[in-house]
Amino acid sequence: MFFSRIAILAALAGYATAQTSTDCDPTKKDCPPDPALGTEYSWNFNTTLDEKIWKMATGTYEYEDDGAKFTLQKEGESTLLQSNFYIFFGVVEAHVKMAKGQGLVSSVVLESDDLDEIDWEWMGYNTSEVQSNFFGKGNDTTFDRGGKHHVANADTEFHNYTTYWDQDILQWWIDGEMVRELPYNDESALFGKNYPQTPCRVQFSLWPAGRKEAPQGTIDWAGGLVEWDTAPFTMTLGKLRVKDFHSGKEYSYGDRSGSWQSIEILEGNSTALNELNKPEPKSLSEKWDDLGEGAHIGVYIGAGVAGALAIAGFLFFCLRQRRKGRLENALGNNPVPLNRAEMENFQKDWRQSEWKLNGGYQQVSN
Ligand SMILES: *[C@@H]1O[C@H](CO)[C@@H](O)[C@H](O)[C@H]1NC(C)=O
Ligand SMILES: *[C@@H]1O[C@H](CO)[C@@H](O)[C@H](O)[C@H]1NC(C)=O
Ligand SMILES: *[C@@H]1O[C@H](CO)[C@@H](O)[C@H](O)[C@H]1NC(C)=O
Ligand SMILES: *[C@@H]1O[C@H](CO)[C@@H](O)[C@H](O)[C@H]1NC(C)=O
Ligand SMILES: *[C@@H]1O[C@H](CO)[C@@H](O)[C@H](O)[C@H]1NC(C)=O
Repeated sequence: MFFSRIAILAALAGYATAQTSTDCDPTKKDCPPDPALGTEYSWNFNTTLDEKIWKMATGTYEYEDDGAKFTLQKEGESTLLQSNFYIFFGVVEAHVKMAKGQGLVSSVVLESDDLDEIDWEWMGYNTSEVQSNFFGKGNDTTFDRGGKHHVANADTEFHNYTTYWDQDILQWWIDGEMVRELPYNDESALFGKNYPQTPCRVQFSLWPAGRKEAPQGTIDWAGGLVEWDTAPFTMTLGKLRVKDFHSGKEYSYGDRSGSWQSIEILEGNSTALNELNKPEPKSLSEKWDDLGEGAHIGVYIGAGVAGALAIAGFLFFCLRQRRKGRLENALGNNPVPLNRAEMENFQKDWRQSEWKLNGGYQQVSN
């Protein structure tokens, strides 16, 4: 059964404003262009979030080895991760573990500025099912478009939920099997008019639909009220592959029609592409890991020598300072002694110049 999205949204009011909302609807007025992805890329979400590409709009982002964790600890919380980029047709392959618990909804949503929408939704009360859905231009007057698909242990196992989307066909795939297909001309898409067809961003959310304040219909749809005393509830986003079928810098609406034919593509590298191509500033420990064992030993030996030199240099410096200090004491004009921070800076500068002088790691090899 599918309840009015408007009712659900009204119920969520303050909560999920961004869940299905738009800052600027280009079918109503002029809006800024949408930054494109313009390429294909895979994320593992096992590291800090690149904030040029992703935005944690609500809630907190935490990562572990197997992916991003979106967690609700207590009543009033919800999470929403949004891409800053948009894709204009493409593929979204999300490996997800849903959050278990009645009243909860985990989702992977593609959504455009004029509210075209493509959904995967997991109802927390059923860990053997995922629902598929779509909306065109925010039209939510009927709710007969949803699909239900069996999937085993959706809360404890990652499954591959892939959306394939182009101007002719929209497909939902689970673990390499197509479970649903929507042609552009389908009646349920009003023969194309309500077929999702404008640039979409990618969003992931975990939100409590079963809330005391919600209409009874919404609570029933969500399988009951969230049982907060059994919190925390966690949705995990593992690997994500997103492919934009267009390459370009930005997408903009050429008119108010909201049709794919009206979308204009500004050529050039997208902000996302430039960010993704940027060489990763490696941490020292990563550089260290990149070296082989032989090199490690080489560096230990080198470091031993450098360390000895450093200590010798430092002692010499101290002695000089002390001598200078004594002299200055004698003359009665003792300057402010080097404080601890200055000492540390001195040591750091010294190490760095030494480091550069020796060409960093380069001179050690296997
Ligand atoms: C993240 O996961 C990928 C794939 O499993 C792995 O290659 C990579 O080293 C991991 N990165 C971190 C920072 O753990
Ligand atoms: C919204 O969808 C309904 C049924 O799917 C349709 O009857 C109605 O004309 C649509 N409204 C608009 C504005 O397209
Ligand atoms: C859970 O989903 C499966 C697969 O769609 C369905 O067969 C089953 O009846 C559902 N269980 C509940 C409690 O809704
Ligand atoms: C996930 O499913 C899609 C669609 O079937 C497929 O193209 C892709 O290779 C799958 N990914 C993995 C990691 O198996
Ligand atoms: C655009 O991206 C490509 C790689 O996809 C890169 O080779 C090229 O230098 C970039 N151009 C600019 C102007 O940044």
